[in-house]
Amino acid sequence: MSLRLGDTAPDFTQDSTEGSIDFHQWAGDSWVVLFSHPADFTPVCTTELGEVSRLKPEFDKRNVKAIGLSVDPLEDHKAWAGDIQETQGSSLNFPLLADHDRKVSDLYDMVHPNADSTLTVRSVFIIDPNKKIRLTITYPASTGRNFTEILRVIDSLQLTDGYKVATPVNWTDGDDCIIVPSVSNDQAKELFPQGWDEKKSYLRMVKQPNKT
Ligand code: BEZ
Repeated sequence: MSLRLGDTAPDFTQDSTEGSIDFHQWAGDSWVVLFSHPADFTPVCTTELGEVSRLKPEFDKRNVKAIGLSVDPLEDHKAWAGDIQETQGSSLNFPLLADHDRKVSDLYDMVHPNADSTLTVRSVFIIDPNKKIRLTITYPASTGRNFTEILRVIDSLQLTDGYKVATPVNWTDGDDCIIVPSVSNDQAKELFPQGWDEKKSYLRMVKQPNKT
C-alpha cells in the first residue's frame, strides 16, 4: 500500500555514497527530502542532482537534509558523481542510496510498474523531524523536478506548523497568508493584533506572522 500524508516514514538501513545509512538515525532532528530518480548516467537526473547540490545552503538554512535514491549499484553512483561535478559545476554533497535490492523503493512504492517495470520514478517525500510524511509528489521520468518548489513547500510547512495560517496559491516566503478557518474572529484578534483584510468571512488575509 502506498504511503500517505501523516504516515510515519518507514525506517530502513541501506548503502549510500556516504556509507551505510540507518534512515531515522541519520535524519535525526532534521526535515528530510527523500527523492528517487530512474537511473544513473541519465541526462535529466544529472541536472537534478547538480541542482540539489547547488541548493545545499538553502536546505541547510531550513534544517533539511536531502537524500537521493536509485536502484543502480554504489560503484555507478560513485563514478557518476564525477560527471555531475564536471557538467553541473557542483559536486554531490548529500548521500545517494544504492537501492540495489529495492528495499527502500518497495517500502516507499517508488517503482510504478505500468510506467517502468524496474526503474524508480521521480518520487519526492518531505518528512518532518517527527518522521511524519508531509508531502508526496510523483513526477514522470521525462520531467525534471523544480526543487525551488520543494523549498517553497518546506517554507509553507514550517510556517504553518508554527502559526494558525495557511498559504495561498503561488505563495512564497514573505507574501500574505490566510488565517485558517478554525480560528474565530475573536481568537484572530489575539493572534493577529495587527489586523487582517477580510475579503470574505472565510478568506482573511494577514501579513506573514513571522515577518511582522
Ligand atoms: C533522465 O534522467 O534523463 C531520464 C531517465 C529515464 C527516462 C528518461 C530520462
